[in-house]
Amino acid sequence: MVHYGHSNQLRQAKAMGDYLIVGVHTDSEISKHKGPPVFTQEERYKMVRAIKWVDEVVEGAPYVTALETLDKYNCDFCVHGDDLTLTVDGVDTYEEVKKSGRYRECKRTQGVSTTDLVGRMLLMTKAHHSNIDASDYQQHTDNFGKGKDSNGQNSHSPWTGVSQFLQTSQKIIQFASGQEPQPGDTIIYVAGAFDLFNIGHVDFLRATHKMADKPYIIVGLHFDQEVNRHKGKNYPIMNVHERTLSVLACRYVSEVVIGAPFAVTKDLLDHLKVDLVCHGKTQMYPKKDGSDPYVVPRKRGILRTVDSGNSLTTDAIVQRITKNRLLFQDRNQKKETTEIAAIQATQRHRVANQ
Ligand code: C5P
Repeated sequence: MVHYGHSNQLRQAKAMGDYLIVGVHTDSEISKHKGPPVFTQEERYKMVRAIKWVDEVVEGAPYVTALETLDKYNCDFCVHGDDLTLTVDGVDTYEEVKKSGRYRECKRTQGVSTTDLVGRMLLMTKAHHSNIDASDYQQHTDNFGKGKDSNGQNSHSPWTGVSQFLQTSQKIIQFASGQEPQPGDTIIYVAGAFDLFNIGHVDFLRATHKMADKPYIIVGLHFDQEVNRHKGKNYPIMNVHERTLSVLACRYVSEVVIGAPFAVTKDLLDHLKVDLVCHGKTQMYPKKDGSDPYVVPRKRGILRTVDSGNSLTTDAIVQRITKNRLLFQDRNQKKETTEIAAIQATQRHRVANQ
């Protein structure tokens, strides 16, 4: 998956140099080493390109990063998070570049991983929502993807094991554009859930960006309770804090309203000095009382329908997972077992060298 943990990695990597090239693996390479990918390679190439810290994407980059790869793309060094990536044979994929000193490390984002997100979709729990007791989530995870070590203790991978993401003002500052609208900018407001931020959203935001010469796009994110009211089930899969970072990482977005009112009111339009309001061709949900949330912009003549040309929805992504439940369960279990084994081997190595 492409998620805000990756965006945070790319942000850190970009800060270490001047030009950031991101190598993205093919579906077959990922299936071989990790298990089935959630997004297709074409979707992942496009999504990574839309992350604002990325200068270039190498499609189909080899799974093992060799010096030859770095030289081919004129890279001084490569960057990876502070966890291990192993091939299917248990070999560190960065062994060669680490030995040659052309390897740098950035911090993993705590509380999000593909394993965790796939788990949320498979389990259909709600503990990732704000203000909800985590105990029901814990109960489910106790029965899922959790290994026992030799002492019969539950052991969790610290990298992909389930934990909760903690939003901080620092993280928002790091992700935010920090730019105010400039004179001559067209201020465009779009509202929605933007849950499991995906290529459907990216295509919509790109098309919206093309609506003006100097667009300033403000995304209004609905609170979790509001999303749950109209989308049902355990939606949103990502809470409002996680959705905030996902959207801020997109190069087309200038500003986010964290917890926007469901109806696009006169107050909101005047306060943000909105010139245009855009919505995609997907379903428009009514307010709680059944009325139209877009009645004010519609009356003002500033509501536009934007065709993203993409029919992917959050629901369709969840269906990809649930349709292939066994494959994804297996993927998560294997990933955690391999990571725990790698950690235990490192610990044994440390003890032996003491
Ligand atoms: O469904 P959600 O609230 O996340 O959608 C946010 C915005 O993205 C909406 O305007 C929706 O119509 C648009 N969208 C789109 N094409 C997609 C997915 C979403 O235009 N494939």
